[in-house]
Amino acid sequence: MRETLAIALTKGRILTDTLPLLAAAGIEPAEDATVTRKLQVGTNLPDTSLLLVRASDVPAYVEYGGADVGITGKDILLEHTGNGLYEPLDLGIGRCKLVLAGVAGVDPFVKRRLRVATKYPEVTQRYFASRGQQVEVIKLYGSMELAPLVGMADVIVDIMETGTTLKANGLNVLDEIGDVSARLIVNKASMKMKHATIHALIANIKKSLLEN
Ligand code: PRP
Repeated sequence: MRETLAIALTKGRILTDTLPLLAAAGIEPAEDATVTRKLQVGTNLPDTSLLLVRASDVPAYVEYGGADVGITGKDILLEHTGNGLYEPLDLGIGRCKLVLAGVAGVDPFVKRRLRVATKYPEVTQRYFASRGQQVEVIKLYGSMELAPLVGMADVIVDIMETGTTLKANGLNVLDEIGDVSARLIVNKASMKMKHATIHALIANIKKSLLEN
């Protein structure tokens, strides 16, 4: 019996780079995944479907078995606190950095009660805790760069790709917290139950990454 396979993806930056990797593994969406409003998209393989979910929801879909496999950024995975995932493959796409940023001249490590605006509260708390510093985190869902400009926060923790957004808002990188790229993640039970199918998918994507 052939195994079904559900793959959780996100519309946006990573998807255009992900589709050629899936194509190399023999998986082609039945319709244009970048524009469809459908959340579940069939593929050329009758037993394989794509789920289009928010990037921050990919770990939950995979951990709880809504999807067998998912592709999302390391930033999202660092923020995810669950533990029911395997992360067997760095796809090397969607590269960016998690950074601490603020206006020039701010020293984030001397102020006693620093306010940090971020959509990465877990990463932020861990980063400052590792420096022995307690901070107040303001959770935002986007456009973090505005918070220091209006005096709501001292600094931000966010991803930086080209640096254009920081520059446009007069912010500088104060520290680099980590490198980010897209990762393939796998549900632990699926890895056992659908081992042959998932192993073949990983092997084919790996092969395509080595060839390009
Ligand atoms: C991300 C991030 C920065 C920007 C960085 O936002 O939050 O604002 O991209 O990219 P750059 O260094 O190339 O300018 P995104 O556009 O994903 O939107 P969001 O704020 O809704 O997360």
